[in-house]
Amino acid sequence: MLDTGGQYTHLIARKVRELGVFADVQPSETPAELLRNRKGVIISGGPCSVYEVGSPDIDPALLRNGPPVLGICYGHQLIAHHLGGAVEKGERGEYGIAQLKLTADDFLWKNVAPSQQIWMSHRDSVAQPPPGFAIIASTETSGVAAMSDSTRKIYGLQFHPEVVHTPAGKDILSNFLFGVCGAKRDWDISQRVPLIEEQIRKIAGDRSIFFFVSGGVDSTVAYTLCLRALGPERVYGMYVDTGLMRLEETEFVQTIFERLGAAHFHVEHADTEFLTVLAGLHEPEQKRRAIGEQFVKVQERILQTGHFLDGHWILGQGTIYPDTIESGGTAKADLIKTHHNRVAGIQALIDNNRIIEPLTSFYKDEVREIGGEIGVPQEFLARHPFPGPGLAIRCLCSSRGARLVESADGWILPVRSVGVQGDSRSYRHVLAIEATPTSNMIRKEAPALTNRRRDINRVVALAGAQSALRSMKLFEAYLTRERLDILREADAIVRRFASETGIEQSVWQFPVVLLPIGTTSARESIVLRPIDSIDGMTAEAVLIEPAHLECLTNQLLQIPGICAVFYDVTNKPPGTIEWE
Ligand code: XMP
Repeated sequence: MLDTGGQYTHLIARKVRELGVFADVQPSETPAELLRNRKGVIISGGPCSVYEVGSPDIDPALLRNGPPVLGICYGHQLIAHHLGGAVEKGERGEYGIAQLKLTADDFLWKNVAPSQQIWMSHRDSVAQPPPGFAIIASTETSGVAAMSDSTRKIYGLQFHPEVVHTPAGKDILSNFLFGVCGAKRDWDISQRVPLIEEQIRKIAGDRSIFFFVSGGVDSTVAYTLCLRALGPERVYGMYVDTGLMRLEETEFVQTIFERLGAAHFHVEHADTEFLTVLAGLHEPEQKRRAIGEQFVKVQERILQTGHFLDGHWILGQGTIYPDTIESGGTAKADLIKTHHNRVAGIQALIDNNRIIEPLTSFYKDEVREIGGEIGVPQEFLARHPFPGPGLAIRCLCSSRGARLVESADGWILPVRSVGVQGDSRSYRHVLAIEATPTSNMIRKEAPALTNRRRDINRVVALAGAQSALRSMKLFEAYLTRERLDILREADAIVRRFASETGIEQSVWQFPVVLLPIGTTSARESIVLRPIDSIDGMTAEAVLIEPAHLECLTNQLLQIPGICAVFYDVTNKPPGTIEWE
């Protein structure tokens, strides 16, 4: 895969691997010389126009006597541009579902019906294919929706075969891989486990490995691989209990690691120190920074007391493939939220190559497959992602009290939450509509409101309340054990409910947020934030059945101190998944 900065690059590579063929992602400008021995090359779509100065390019030599090439979207336009076709600048572009009509026979069309639903997302388009190319499919608006030069084995598709909205996409990719490139179906995850373990033994030599495990899927699978490769005596796991975890999380992780056969699994209880440094903070980035810095201190202490920095040890990490790739064409993303902080000692280990990362070639779904293969329990592998700073970023704080403000569109909640608009961060108020959530709110009302009003980036509906919004207010509040306990209880209720009703399987993540909004006798509110997503980069708010929602809301309103239950109806963008 040559990456031209498109958001779908990894999705294409994943689809290729799902078809049983190894694929990796390289910068688009990779010299053709280095690609000579590849079975085939796919050029991804990207956000640019071939006419923009500095837009991602390919080595033109790739299109002369190289391996077979398939260009998708921008990749299709690049091929036309390089080989003497015509690319037309588009003003409005074409986004969404279209009907593809095959206009000529081709290798790519084996098992593909003559008329097909496909998905388009582009501004520019190919107006004229290069000499030697045939137009092999069109849509109503795209004359050259697909083109091929079967002699040179170069193909271009304007549409996206990798997305679910193109049902024949898998057949088309398959035809390219097996029909055109002659690739073999030999990428089989289950057969890779012994090779990975062999590699671990080779890198470790006679040294032992230590891990900071988080209870997440990646670090647990990496740890288990090392455990199998070296035996329990040579693998140490350290887990920091920050006090910002969900109910009974530490016990759960401990049980899992025991079941996996860990002999040296250490829990560092650090809840009091974390709460101490968080006391009195209310701004999201300040909270994140305090947690990151405290984490570094605790890790440093563990490293020193365990003598983990001496020559006998190497560090194990659960880094997976997408974590290792810098996107080729796109400029570095604007800082939306601070994510990582690194301990100096750990940096030194990395710099000295005293590190082992058994999962750097794999995608998340492959990591889950490997986990299943080596006996990590399914209940664990299927867990939703959970952010490092834990409940701290779901427990909103405020340095002041304030009233809710009535507007023509609903009530403005005086808290602020983080959003992302046009690749940059926003930090704005929340609009509350005094009605239960509907799909129309998610599809129409919330987008219209966040587009029109500059003071908000998020819209919530009211699932239920003990009092009218008119009588509620925002209270001064910080991160305390009491508030975290209320959030933990609410989160546990939601999790149990989602698991019993099967909602858990139909959402990608289901954050539960605590707001210091209520009345003097019940000062807090809960926000439900169920979303669907592929990778967390974008997300859709998901509706749950009214009867289910009512039942859940009633349970939450029983928690002492809870005044109202809100329901977040905002997609990402403009709202982020987490509120902070
Ligand atoms: P946002 O809120 O940015 O979240 O839409 C996207 C995904 O990232 C997770 N997330 C975090 N994960 N540290 C993490 O390890 C963080 O500080 C953090 N903030 C957000 C979030 O849960 C979602 O899956």
